[in-house]
Amino acid sequence: MRISVIGCGYLGAVHAAAMASLGHEVVGIDVDESKVEALRAGRAPFFEPGLPELLLEAGAGGGLTFGTDIAAVAGARVHFVCVGTPQLKGELGADLSYVDASIAALIPRLQPGDVVVGKSTVPVGTAERLAEELAPAGATLIWNPEFLREGFAVEDTLHPDRFVYGLPTQDGVATEAGEAAKLLLDEVYATPLADDTPLVVTDYATAQLVKVAANSFLATKISFINAMAELCEATGGDVTQLADAIGYDARIGRRFLNAGLGFGGGCLPKDIRAFMARAGELGVDQALTFLREVDSINGRRRERMVELAREVCGGSLVGKRITVLGATFKPNSDDIRDSPALSVADSLEKNGAHVVVTDPQGIENARRARPNLHYTADVLDAVRDADVVLLGTEWSEYRDLDPQKLGEVVAGKHMLDGRNVLDPTQWRAAGWTYRALGRP
Ligand code: UDX
Repeated sequence: MRISVIGCGYLGAVHAAAMASLGHEVVGIDVDESKVEALRAGRAPFFEPGLPELLLEAGAGGGLTFGTDIAAVAGARVHFVCVGTPQLKGELGADLSYVDASIAALIPRLQPGDVVVGKSTVPVGTAERLAEELAPAGATLIWNPEFLREGFAVEDTLHPDRFVYGLPTQDGVATEAGEAAKLLLDEVYATPLADDTPLVVTDYATAQLVKVAANSFLATKISFINAMAELCEATGGDVTQLADAIGYDARIGRRFLNAGLGFGGGCLPKDIRAFMARAGELGVDQALTFLREVDSINGRRRERMVELAREVCGGSLVGKRITVLGATFKPNSDDIRDSPALSVADSLEKNGAHVVVTDPQGIENARRARPNLHYTADVLDAVRDADVVLLGTEWSEYRDLDPQKLGEVVAGKHMLDGRNVLDPTQWRAAGWTYRALGRP
């Protein structure tokens, strides 16, 4: 089937390539010419494992093209809207201007019976409005949120945990147009659906809520364990053992209970804030006041890490050389948006430290965002003469560092483990002081 993908960022580029790999003829549209040029050449505009291979494979077969001109959507029957919804400047809510611009650009190109599939994360109520705007063109909207994780985006797109279709409904039942649209979308996803991926067919409101509810739950789980880390710090407990012990309870589960510097990235922080803003507009802000706490627990971990560094430095950070291992918000990504590691690095520098940051993939992006910090690609160069080393992002190369080897080049053997991934016994045996968040 010929399909179009509007917006070729993390979500859209991966979605376009993945759909082409299922055998569809895909055209990806983005306003950013440099992004389109890279994608046309089979280059991923950001670091995402598996994406370059998928782009080359799909591009070589001729089933995947990219352009900046929306006219190229002609002939496509299904149009995926994958543009970003960043946080509005100075406000909690989401900026819907890219979604609105995509729909406005699509409308004159649509044929009756076309299906527009919303994948962007939006405030609940947006789909209902967009469906009305699309109705005169004879197109049907399906709300089909995406749950991909950066670093696993290809796998998550081709083998999702579940599909959610939000269909237009009347009196609680999908309309005829909604049912027809569903069949077309089933055809697009034929292969993963045939693999028994669960499918939840619902209304627009639920489909939009599923996405923000899932991200809010994940953020809450992380902040819960980080709140327990605060308790562990006050009592001498060990949050990693606590997480293991409660995680054995199948009702709780161990995943997303890793205490440390907390969550960052382009999704969880902005999604919980936009959700709170929307709840306020809907008059149910009380239902989500706990998310304010989730957000502030998350921010407090960064502050606590700066305090820990100050403590280790004997009360003042001024003139201290601190190496931060990791700039990205998580491993296997070059994304530095709202990165806890980088935000801590920045605070350390603002408190007078000389901060050197290293990262396997994120240095270029970090340098653009925080030019005040120093950057070195090689880990041994980065830690040379450091008074303190702080692990901010748990890349596997940092988990596997040899404390003996590192100890030979640093000025002070102080390790601050911001992700609770190092073995304290091993580091202490090599003569380091080991400090972590939520561990004695
Ligand atoms: C998230 C959701 O997981 C995904 O389903 C959604 O579609 C987009 O947002 P992503 O932003 O790629 O994905 O990252 P995720 O793997 O969820 O991690 C988010 C942040 O939480 C990272 O900064 C990570 O380091 C942190 N985290 C995660 C923890 O601090 N502790 C944990 O136990 C897990």
